[in-house]
Amino acid sequence: LGSSRCVVAVDGPSGSGKSTVSRRLATGLGARYLDTGAMYRAVTWAVLRSGVDLHDAAAVAKVAAEIDLAVGTDPAAPTFDVDGTCVDVAIRGNEVTGAVSAVAAVAEVRRLLVDRQRALVEAADRIVIEGRDIGTVVAPDADLKVYLTASAAERARRRSAENAADVAATAADLARRDQHDTTRAVDPLAQASDAVELDSTALGIDEVVATIREQLLARGVK
Ligand code: DC
Repeated sequence: LGSSRCVVAVDGPSGSGKSTVSRRLATGLGARYLDTGAMYRAVTWAVLRSGVDLHDAAAVAKVAAEIDLAVGTDPAAPTFDVDGTCVDVAIRGNEVTGAVSAVAAVAEVRRLLVDRQRALVEAADRIVIEGRDIGTVVAPDADLKVYLTASAAERARRRSAENAADVAATAADLARRDQHDTTRAVDPLAQASDAVELDSTALGIDEVVATIREQLLARGVK
C-alpha cells in the first residue's frame, strides 16, 4: 500500500455502481470510505422517527442539528448510528428511500452534513468519498474526481436485482430521484469540469476499480 495522502471523489446517479466501486477501491488503497448518501439517509431516518413534516424545511433542519450522527469509515464495515441506534439496515428501506430526496434538498441539512464530510476528509490520511456533490462542493481539491455513469436501463436493472424489486417500478423511482437530485437548487448532482467520466454500463466492478487505479497511478498514487 502507498502512504501518500490522497482524496478520491466519486460522484454519479443512483445505480451507477458508486458504492460498490468506492468501497472496493478504498480497501485496495488502504483508505477510509465515506458514503455521504448514507448520511442523508440517516438524517431522513431521524426525521421520519421524529414525526415532523418532511416538507417543513426548518423543522427538518432542526432534527438534523439535534441528532448525534456517528459515522464509521472503515471500508470493511461502514456504520451509521443515530443517537446510539445502529441504522445501517433501516436507512436502506423503502420508507427512507422514498423520503431522502426531500431531506437532501434542505439547504441547512446540506450545510451541516457538508461540514461533517469535510472534517472527515480532513482527518483521514487517504479517503474515498462518494455522493452527488463531492467533486463540486465537498472536496473540490480532491486528487482524483470520478464521475460514474451507466445507462438508465442498466442502473434500474442493478437496483432491482439488489432489492428483489420490479424493474419497471425501480426505473420509475430512479428517474424520479435523478430528476429531483439534478434539478434541486442547492448542490445538485453535477459533473465537476475536471472529473474523469467513466461509463460502467458494460463494465464489471473490477474493471471500473482497475481503471480508477490506473488514473491514480498516472497521478503518482499507488
Ligand atoms: O446514493 P444514495 O441513493 O444513498 O443517496 C441518497 C439520497 O441522498 C439521494 O436522493 C441523493 C442524495 N445525496 C445528495 O444529495 N448528496 C450527496 N452527497 C449524496 C446523496
